Amino acid sequence: MFLIICLVGILPSIILRHAFLKNYESRAVAVRIFDVQSQCQIIANHLSTYQYLDDPDSDVVNAELEQLSNLYDGRVIVVNSDLKIIKDTYSISQGKTMISEEVIRCFRKETTANYDDVNHFIEITTPIYPPGTEDIQGVMLTSISANPIMDTRESLGNRALLIIAITTILIVIMAYFGSLLIVRPFRKVVREMDDIKEGFGKDSIDVPDFIETEALSLSVTQMISRMEAVDASRQEFVANVSHELKTPITSIKVLADSLVSQGDDVPAELYREFMEDIVQEIDRETGIINDLLTLVKMDQGEKAEELQVQQVDIGDFIEKIMERLTPIAQKAQVELVLEIIRPVTVEVDETKFSLAMTNLIENGIKYNHEGGWVKAKIDGDYQFCTIEISDTGMGIPEESLPHIFERFYRVDKSHSREIGGTGLGLAITRSVVLMHRGAIKADSVEGEGTTFTVKIPRTYLA
Ligand SMILES: Nc1ncnc2c1ncn2[C@@H]1O[C@H](COP(=O)(O)OP(=O)(O)OP(=O)(O)O)[C@@H](O)[C@H]1O
Ligand SMILES: [Mg+2]
Repeated sequence: MFLIICLVGILPSIILRHAFLKNYESRAVAVRIFDVQSQCQIIANHLSTYQYLDDPDSDVVNAELEQLSNLYDGRVIVVNSDLKIIKDTYSISQGKTMISEEVIRCFRKETTANYDDVNHFIEITTPIYPPGTEDIQGVMLTSISANPIMDTRESLGNRALLIIAITTILIVIMAYFGSLLIVRPFRKVVREMDDIKEGFGKDSIDVPDFIETEALSLSVTQMISRMEAVDASRQEFVANVSHELKTPITSIKVLADSLVSQGDDVPAELYREFMEDIVQEIDRETGIINDLLTLVKMDQGEKAEELQVQQVDIGDFIEKIMERLTPIAQKAQVELVLEIIRPVTVEVDETKFSLAMTNLIENGIKYNHEGGWVKAKIDGDYQFCTIEISDTGMGIPEESLPHIFERFYRVDKSHSREIGGTGLGLAITRSVVLMHRGAIKADSVEGEGTTFTVKIPRTYLA
């Protein structure tokens, strides 16, 4: 973090410095070229006026040439039309022939001004026209040093470097404290999360330093409370399972103990009665274990296993279940009614859906009174099938309604025990309906009856 802030702060200044110096250099060279070119033009006019090409001894002109040469710390060479050097302010090449590309181009009316940025000098050619003619009779070649420009550039560069150095130090200091400021609250979040991980009994974190850390704290706290809720429900489930499994075993032990304690004198009648009770308790235990296994399998199935769906006529399907339940219904003196508003075919997993429907109708019978009825009403449209199971039973109190689909939940534990049941039926029913991508709801009026409505799509959506 610290490094990134430093780089972001310093890199632009280095690039800027380079661009600024380059820009200064080219502008300064352009201004210098313009200055020298105008001076040269004036002198070239004088050369022509004084017919210097024919008589290079003119003191006035020579003085001007020397002056120009001194002023710009440079060298001026005058070449005539035979490419012969008639004047060199350095007095080195006088009398020699000049075959330079620039001079020849100038004779062709192409004046040039070149800047050599390696050796730092500027070379300018100026044509000399005799008065009143268009023919170039000579060329003035002026080379001046660009060192003053380079000196200024260097001193500017040094100053910029100094500024960059100071800024860098400031940026490094600010970046250090800035990154500390930014990172600290996040470190705090991590520390608090570590505390929770190591189990210091905390169930929330609070780092309100930034909006981000506040949001993070809130999310973590919510996640913790969800995990706690899951953990609590798991513990409750385990407690319920143990309790439910223990009850029949306790009964069996009590029954068996009393038989044992009576020795050989147990009357055959009593012996038989106790044995029947023991068999009943064993059946009950088996029932609970089977229900639990079904639920566990369905919990896994929701994620992995697909349903074995088949097209069934739901009217026939419910009718068969009702036939199977008729003996129980007759015993409880409850009438079973099937009402088909519209015949519907639905894709369901027969085994699983049968479990769900059986429990709903069985509940309707179990929690009913003599002379009551349980009715299954079937309806559907092109997309959904609706099955309504209503009864004239005892109903479910309003405060219990939100809980009836929970595992092991029973409204009236003492009453339910009398009736029999573990409170797993509706949990299984709900799982099955959800697996079919459907929905289930319960409406009830205490003392009047209950209606369960199941709605599932007619075509199974994998
Ligand atoms: N039709 C109904 N009328 C009145 N109460 C009902 C009805 N259906 C369910 N209940 C209440 O909801 C509770 C949960 O029902 P659920 O089917 O899950 O369990 P159960 O019938 O007690 O046992 P199981 O179905 O596991 O043998 C029941 O104990 C009962 O109190
Ligand atoms: Mg039930």
